[in-house]
Formats: sequence, structure tokens, C-alpha cells
Amino acid sequence: MYQFIAGLPKVELHLHIEGSLEPELMFQLAKRNNIDIPYASPDEVRAAYDFSNLQSFLDIYYQGAQVLITERDFYDLTWAYMLRCKTDNVLHAELFFDPQTHTSRGVDFDLVMKGICGALAAAEIELGISSQLILCFLRHLDEASAFDTLNQAQAWKQQIVAVGLDSSELGHPPEKFARVFATARQQGYLTVAHAGEEGPSSNIIDALDILQVSRIDHGVRCVDDPQLVTRLIDEQIHLTVCPLSNTKLKVFASMEQHNIVDLLYKGVSVGVNSDDPAYFGGYMNDNFNALANAHPLTYEQLAKFTSNAIDASFCNAQRKYELQQQLQVYLDKQ
Ligand code: HPA
Ligand code: ZN
Repeated sequence: MYQFIAGLPKVELHLHIEGSLEPELMFQLAKRNNIDIPYASPDEVRAAYDFSNLQSFLDIYYQGAQVLITERDFYDLTWAYMLRCKTDNVLHAELFFDPQTHTSRGVDFDLVMKGICGALAAAEIELGISSQLILCFLRHLDEASAFDTLNQAQAWKQQIVAVGLDSSELGHPPEKFARVFATARQQGYLTVAHAGEEGPSSNIIDALDILQVSRIDHGVRCVDDPQLVTRLIDEQIHLTVCPLSNTKLKVFASMEQHNIVDLLYKGVSVGVNSDDPAYFGGYMNDNFNALANAHPLTYEQLAKFTSNAIDASFCNAQRKYELQQQLQVYLDKQ
């Protein structure tokens, strides 16, 4: 099973690039940029990663991002993630980034973009991995700050396929960003949103109806509303599910209790993703392995996660076809 998973072609649609900052790189960048961090070693950083809920993670995640200062820092961060994609046979990745986490510290929006896009371009050429970039608004900040961020993205529109919504879900429902998302859609962006991770299933409905999202990030609380589950199946709305994230942040008490396999059986389009792999204990293969350890899954079911993600990706039709072909070739070899 591990061998099958290792070789399985994968597509990642839910990955925060700031959440791929490994403690070793955090230390290296802190040193390079003369920034004090409240830990003595990478191991001490790892020991602090004991989360009780989403907010307890976010507090540490925003603190970690403070070591990211220069264009080279963002390049190194992104390149390290793309190398992990290569290792895990991820053929296509759609990355979230949180500009406000950086601009609020005086780090220039354009510098962030240059660093990330430089590494993504190099990965396409040198590693053969295609990618897209999704700008996320921090939902705990206000509408004006989101509009300001959307304006700063104007010069980079060709490099950003969609806008999304992340950070603290409780108390910051989708409707808070209705006008920002409407403007973004008018400007030609696709939209996605984190919904139904810690927040209620009604946030999923509002993300679909008010923000008009193409897919839902997490969405696992949809099961609280059977009518919504029927809608997700009928409309084939994809959920970018993150198994290790959900267990680390206590959305589920254990991997055995995770509902992704139930959702797959019901016919919901679900995929497997790593969310913040440096904080939650693993990249794509680790997420697949953790699921397969806790649930009986066939090769076909594991491949269906990839197939669903290809269909739900923001690739063009040609690239989707190539990815489905590569998946089929792999399955035929088994
Ligand atoms: N949820 C909300 N915000 C986030 C997450 C998440 O899982 N990861 C990084 N920012
Ligand atoms: Zn996320």
C-alpha cells in the first residue's frame, strides 16, 4: 500500500505556502535576517506544535511567518515545497498565499510575488510540476484590508488564478467578504473559501451562494446538513480535505473518525491535501498513508482522490487530460 501511494500521481489543491515553512528553514531565515525567535532549536519549535484548535495553530503559524523578509526567503520557501512535491509525485499544485501576513509587517507585496513566482517558474521547467497561485484574504481582518490587498494584486493578475478566504472561521462568516469577492469575480478571478472546518455547515452554503466559490476548502462539517450533502453530490462541488490537519486541530478526535471515506462512498468529490505540512506532521504521501492506515481503501479509491482533484483543479483542459492520462497509465500498471 505504501508503495502504491508513493507512486500514485497526485494533485494538491489545499496548501498554504507559509504552512510549509519547516523549523530548519525557519532557523536559517531567522539567522539570515537577524530575527529573534523564541526557540533554541528546530526540535524546540516542533515541540511547540501541540494544538488544541484552529486558533492555537494560527497564533504559532503567523509568528513563524515573521522570518520571511526578502524575495530570496519566499523563493527558498516555495522551492523547498516544490521539491517535496517532486518527492511525493505531486504533478500539479495550487498554492495559497497570505499577503496580509507580510504586508502588515512592512514586507512589500511585489517582493512576495517575485519570490513565489520565481520558484514556481523554476519548478515548472526543472521539475515538470505545474502550479497555480491563489491569494487568500485573512478573514479575521476587515473588508477594507481585503480590498486594499485586492488592489495590490492588480499588477499580478496574470499570476493569480483565484482568491480565497482563510484564518479564523468562527465569528468571520463568508458574508463579511461578499463585496470583495464580487469585485474579485468582476475582475476575472475564480473564488474558493475555507468553510465548514470549525465553522457551521451554513458557512459552506454561504460560500457557495454568496461568494460563488468553485470549490470548498475543508468542508467536512457538511455532514451536519444532509440536504447540503445531496447538493454537493448533485452539483459535484469539490471539497479539498486535509486529513492530518483535521486531526491535529481536533476537528476529528482520530483519523479513524475522519469522514472523508464516508463522503467518498456517498459520491461527494473529495481530495486529499496537506494544508500546512510543516505544522501538521506531513506532506501528501503522509496524508494518504495516515488515511490508508486508519481506513480500508482500495487502489481505485485512492486514485479517485487524485482524479477528483484533477477535475476540480484550475488547469486548462489540455493539462487536465494529461494528468488523467498519467493517472490511468499508473493504474493500468498495477
Ligand atoms: N484554516 C484556516 N486558516 C488557515 C489554515 C486552515 O486550515 N491553514 C492556514 N491558514
Ligand atoms: Zn487551509
